[in-house]
Amino acid sequence: MWLSEVMLQQTRVETVKPYFHRWLDRFPTLQTLAEAPLDDVLKAWEGLGYYSRARNFHRAVREVAERHDGRIPDDPVAFRGLPGVGRYTAGAVMSIAFGREEALVDGNVRRVFARWTDDPAPADPALWSLAAALAPGARPGDVNQAVMELGATLCVPRAPLCGECPVREHCRAFRRGSQAERPAPKKARPTPHEDTAVALVEHEGRTLLVRRPVDARLGGMWAFPAAVRRRGESVAAAAERAVREGLALEVRAGAAIGTVKHTFTHVRASYHAVRCTLLSGDPRPLHYDAWAWATPADLSSYALPVAQRRIAALAAEPRCSAERTAEPAVPPSTFESLLRY
Ligand code: ADE
Repeated sequence: MWLSEVMLQQTRVETVKPYFHRWLDRFPTLQTLAEAPLDDVLKAWEGLGYYSRARNFHRAVREVAERHDGRIPDDPVAFRGLPGVGRYTAGAVMSIAFGREEALVDGNVRRVFARWTDDPAPADPALWSLAAALAPGARPGDVNQAVMELGATLCVPRAPLCGECPVREHCRAFRRGSQAERPAPKKARPTPHEDTAVALVEHEGRTLLVRRPVDARLGGMWAFPAAVRRRGESVAAAAERAVREGLALEVRAGAAIGTVKHTFTHVRASYHAVRCTLLSGDPRPLHYDAWAWATPADLSSYALPVAQRRIAALAAEPRCSAERTAEPAVPPSTFESLLRY
């Protein structure tokens, strides 16, 4: 139940379902998960995104195994102390799994309450006190899930189905006819853009993979070495730098393979992939904590983020079609980088 709440954060039910079942086949007990290496855990999460959820869940389950005798604490304070357990997850697990009178607020609950109180911008403390007022009773988990479900099915963001709502008589926004404007949309902040060079270092039929540092974005996931382009730096120079700074290897960047775009929560990334040949050096873990030379067949056994899989697929295409995508639109401006073209 805890696992389902973690998987469902930021992710739709239909996407989660196959992952949830496969996960339970792979890690049927808390103990099997606690004993599994992080690589296996991230592999099972591959494609779901927001990988810090998997890393934290794994750490939390290890803590339960080691410090709580393998039993998930049913005390809200102890449970909140576990890695990655926020206020929402604690409220959900405590109320649904243990019948504790604990409140929760998620995006659906926020919308239901904003309409209920006809508040265009309800503040967190007000939302949590409303939720806390509902929790006491015989079935706090059912009450919490009912409010979330109302938000997911009838009290939906656009065109809510008030005609079918069983509690519309209590809804201030419905009585006033303001439900379509509640809550008011939050101001969207522009998402910054990152241009990243990705090095596909090929050597004797294998491609170099690295494991990203645990505290980085996509931490613990495998990837091709990469570096965000600096101002005026060419893709080729950035790709060579990624391998040099990451693993102390010298490579020479060659043909462009193509560009893959991916949007994260706080950044839009463009990955410009280039083939590189190995010049010299023995890999040393500088920025990355592990590396591997993978054959095309090996690739499927590593936990690779979606964008990296797409880069691998582009690189596997016949060269004539794959390598027609050139450098990104913004040209490098330094003399050094011009020499590279
Ligand atoms: N969304 C995430 N968890 C949920 C739950 N337990 N019930 C309803 N909606 C949810």
